[in-house]
Amino acid sequence: CRIVVLISGNGSNLQAIIDKCHLQDGAEIVAVVSNRSDAYGLQRARAANIAAKVLDHKAFESRESYDKALITLINEFQADLLVMAGFMRILTPEFVTNFSGKMLNIHPSLLPKYQGLHTHQRAIEAGDKEHGASVHFVTEELDGGPVILQARVPVFAEDTVDELAARVHEQEHQIYPMVVTWFACGRLSMGDGQAILDGNIL
Ligand code: GRF
Repeated sequence: CRIVVLISGNGSNLQAIIDKCHLQDGAEIVAVVSNRSDAYGLQRARAANIAAKVLDHKAFESRESYDKALITLINEFQADLLVMAGFMRILTPEFVTNFSGKMLNIHPSLLPKYQGLHTHQRAIEAGDKEHGASVHFVTEELDGGPVILQARVPVFAEDTVDELAARVHEQEHQIYPMVVTWFACGRLSMGDGQAILDGNIL
């Protein structure tokens, strides 16, 4: 399974996937692509001898033209799976359709709760006792594709946003590599807008 990971920043999830999936169970990360040249995750890729590419969105006139170039770049690596790991861009319907059933994302909330940004702050402000992260297939609906696996963490009364985010991140690093391995092993697919693991609808 040839995997391309898309990032915009630190890439701690990328690191977890490198550590737990890369060159194991038939999975190979063939490239890491960032829309920002200063993304620390690019250094993580190079340190693991993985091709690190920058496609700067500021060099493009429109979202459509950027996503087209991104498809071309990804296709050069003949990816079977696209893993979004903190890629901070909204994708065009054309892009999502192109990789339908082959694209995973991790979102820092218990979806369908808190789609979009500032999820940790919103969970604290709502007084939630529980928060977490979700790995899901990407569909046209932003943060709305079928959920594959979630991790839950407690929210404590005195939690700051940073403390809660760190607790969630730790769990992300457990569940994302697990899901990538399922896909690479052929156990996971998307059909009729549903996630299917070992023949069972999730
Ligand atoms: C994570 O919180 C993930 O849930 C969200 O973006 C963040 C990426 O963090 N989609 P990192 O770059 O993997 O450290």
